[in-house]
Amino acid sequence: MPIILAIESSCDETSVAVCNNGKITANVIANQTIHENYGGVIPELASRVHQQNIVPAVQQALAIAKVSKNELNAVAFTRGPGLLGSLLVGVSFAKSFALALDLPLIAVNHMQAHILAHFIDEPMPKFPFLCLTVSGGHTQIVLVKDYFDMEIVGETLDDAAGEAFDKTAKILNLPYPGGPLIDKYAKEGNPLAYKFPEPQIQGLDYSFSGFKTAILYFIRNQEKADPAFVEKHLADICASVQYSIVNILLNKLKKAAKEYQITEIAIAGGVSANSGLRNTLLAMEESHGWKVYIPAFQYCTDNAGMIAIAGYHQFLKGNFVGQKVSPMARMNF
Ligand code: KG4
Ligand code: ZN
Repeated sequence: MPIILAIESSCDETSVAVCNNGKITANVIANQTIHENYGGVIPELASRVHQQNIVPAVQQALAIAKVSKNELNAVAFTRGPGLLGSLLVGVSFAKSFALALDLPLIAVNHMQAHILAHFIDEPMPKFPFLCLTVSGGHTQIVLVKDYFDMEIVGETLDDAAGEAFDKTAKILNLPYPGGPLIDKYAKEGNPLAYKFPEPQIQGLDYSFSGFKTAILYFIRNQEKADPAFVEKHLADICASVQYSIVNILLNKLKKAAKEYQITEIAIAGGVSANSGLRNTLLAMEESHGWKVYIPAFQYCTDNAGMIAIAGYHQFLKGNFVGQKVSPMARMNF
């Protein structure tokens, strides 16, 4: 007790998970490849594909977890933040499913869930810890005092770190989402080949819009001299861009750790799948006396496993919602 079914549909991944007494026993993720050729997620297409994916994903998750729908004790779902049309599919499905089976509903905040993914597997961070949450839509340094007591102490003023990866990839003519591809090419390149300026932002906030423009101008200038510049130096460009983004992210995290005197440090969100970020952070464990927590790959990018674990902790607190609940494109902690 309890067995919770969880639904995630905030962006372009339809995901369904099962949490059995705090353990994730299924985490099905249906990726949408339809957006690859558009250079970004097309909201209308995303919600249509969610509608096609959701029922098979639920059936698959229940089969993998070896539970029947009659054994479920609650349904958790992502309420927001995210694309409204995408959220609507998951929220409507969760509400009808719960109504039909007479189950309580649990509304989960997607950004909190990215952080709570750290409570799926051992080792788990100890409160209070700092979490750098880096995804396609968010870049936040969060002071996590308890499961549902979180405070954003720094965040991006414009683009998110994932956008910096994806927009650079677009400049380099790589398909969407470009983050994983930059990561892949970076492995064969020299991170010190090109230097990009670090944004000078006060405090613990970030900015990536100027960084993206700097890359755009750099590539344009190089291409004037050699039209095949990108093709010839792709690995070095990717390695240098990744090195810069990772440095920008970790410099502020270092500052936050010092300011709050916290050594329990975690990362979460899609960009935490980046090998450069993971490796550099792990190296800092020793040099900075930190204890570093990095989620397993399947729990970094959008997934319902993290919604399920957040739902589990809300279940323990008796935090349920009624059938009137609606999705929220923007949602604070
Ligand atoms: O958390 P997430 O799956 O979705 C949002 O909630 O936004 O994050 C998606 C973002 C995309 O920008 C994607 O390019 C980036 O995470 N991403 C990566 C890597 N894997 C995913 N960025 C860099 N390196 C990766 N390996
Ligand atoms: Zn996300």
